[in-house]
Amino acid sequence: MTKSTRRRWWWTLWTLLAVSAVGIALFSAEPYVVADVERNRIPLDPEVASHYLSIAVHAIPSSLALLIGPFQFVTRLRVRYPKVHRIAGQVYMVCVVLGSIAALFAATFSVSGFSVQVAFFILTAAWLYTLAQAYRTIRRGEVQLHRVWMIRNYSLTFASVTLRIYLGLGVALQESYLPDLTFDDVYHASAWSSLVVNVLVAEYFIVHRLLKPLARRKRITGVTPAPTPTDRGVLVGAGGSAEDGSGTEDGVTVSSGPPGARGPE
Ligand code: HEM
Repeated sequence: MTKSTRRRWWWTLWTLLAVSAVGIALFSAEPYVVADVERNRIPLDPEVASHYLSIAVHAIPSSLALLIGPFQFVTRLRVRYPKVHRIAGQVYMVCVVLGSIAALFAATFSVSGFSVQVAFFILTAAWLYTLAQAYRTIRRGEVQLHRVWMIRNYSLTFASVTLRIYLGLGVALQESYLPDLTFDDVYHASAWSSLVVNVLVAEYFIVHRLLKPLARRKRITGVTPAPTPTDRGVLVGAGGSAEDGSGTEDGVTVSSGPPGARGPE
């Protein structure tokens, strides 16, 4: 595949990702932003007064994180406006932390069933863990590792999009071919699938787009490739701070990472 074909592919994929993320974020957050309780889309526990509140406090920052995410992966934006990247990253982090804490309450009060609750608890733990790793690595200046952890983290944020796609497909399937299925069956299967499939896709991307090109370079030259600024995190875990904008975050500007590893430019 030529470089320009690959670039076109990336843009197409990124556009699909961004459009669906922005669409679902706006659609999901709107009823909670205007506090329209009537338009709440999931069943509430009438005995828990703060159930609606926990979902609203979860939905609004989570939607903002979903909205910000795709733009953080665009190399050109990151290079031209490193300060914007840093501030948006901080806002994203705060949103994920708030969204996760509220998700713990929402999952605890959920009347959707034990299996869905377990899926959401696992999702919350993974969401926080990958965020903590992404933060830890960028504080150490390990840009490539930061990118790996952010891909993992955003794949979990994006579970909110795939969950809704699976729900739509599941309901259509139930109405046309599988009338014995209940909505709960579809919801449980969708919640688990959105978690598992997104994790698998993220890992596939990381291995094939980030790690394989590095391994190939090592095989061709017979030696471990000299770390470029962008590789540092993966290869040697070098130190240095990205916080002042002069450290390895600027390594992204040099952008000599493995082919295809940089995302849309
Ligand atoms: C990735 C980690 C996430 C976890 C663990 C999580 C967890 C939850 C839980 C437990 C509920 C209540 C479900 C029920 O009672 O059946 C819920 C609902 C909801 N979540 Fe999330 N969520 C996550 C990400 C997101 C994101 C990124 C968005 C942004 C769109 C979002 C938007 C919503 C909305 C809007 C609801 C209310 C249901 C609806 O109106 O469709 N969540 N979430």
